[in-house]
Amino acid sequence: MNESRLFYTPLWQTDVADPNDHWTERRELMLQRIFALAAEGKGVQKTNFGGWQSPDDLYRYPEFQWLIGRIMALGNEIAPAFSAKRRFDDGILWANINRKGDFNAVHTHPDAVLSGVVYLKVDHPDQGVIQFFDAREGSPTSQWRCYMRLEDGTPLINDVHEVQPKEGHLLFFPGWLKHWVTPNNTDRERVSVSFNIRLE
Ligand SMILES: [Fe+2]
Repeated sequence: MNESRLFYTPLWQTDVADPNDHWTERRELMLQRIFALAAEGKGVQKTNFGGWQSPDDLYRYPEFQWLIGRIMALGNEIAPAFSAKRRFDDGILWANINRKGDFNAVHTHPDAVLSGVVYLKVDHPDQGVIQFFDAREGSPTSQWRCYMRLEDGTPLINDVHEVQPKEGHLLFFPGWLKHWVTPNNTDRERVSVSFNIRLE
């Protein structure tokens, strides 16, 4: 039989930690800026429980211009998945510092078709993973009370997809996809930069 994918949920992943592209130096400068902003107390309260989240205007700082360039170039590689003609040309980005016990509650990124995150500082597997939840309202797996986990579940029937972050890893996902970040169970901070980008 022919199978049609009516409404599917993509997750794109890549690695921007290229030592030939001065990743070590660029990462260090971004982290310095993030910690400086945190020390100044310039934070916001959104999905972060206990963690520090910067304002979403990191594009103001020169340390993030390289990362923005990478995000827009990579985003436009996958732009055809969203539109045959339009390209991504604008966006916002913000930093997250999660220390021991900190996590980010379940949320979506309203008004964003393409969102993502890049990990700047992750050095232990217990610093919190990102979990994505089934976006299909009314699906069996979105109804917790009638859900029965299948040990051999497929992407069609599974309700959670988990990604273990690592330094330099970059994820793109549709802004409507529900996700959260599990608690950091270590004494070491975890730092990421999240973003939303918009079609022209
Ligand atoms: Fe998010």
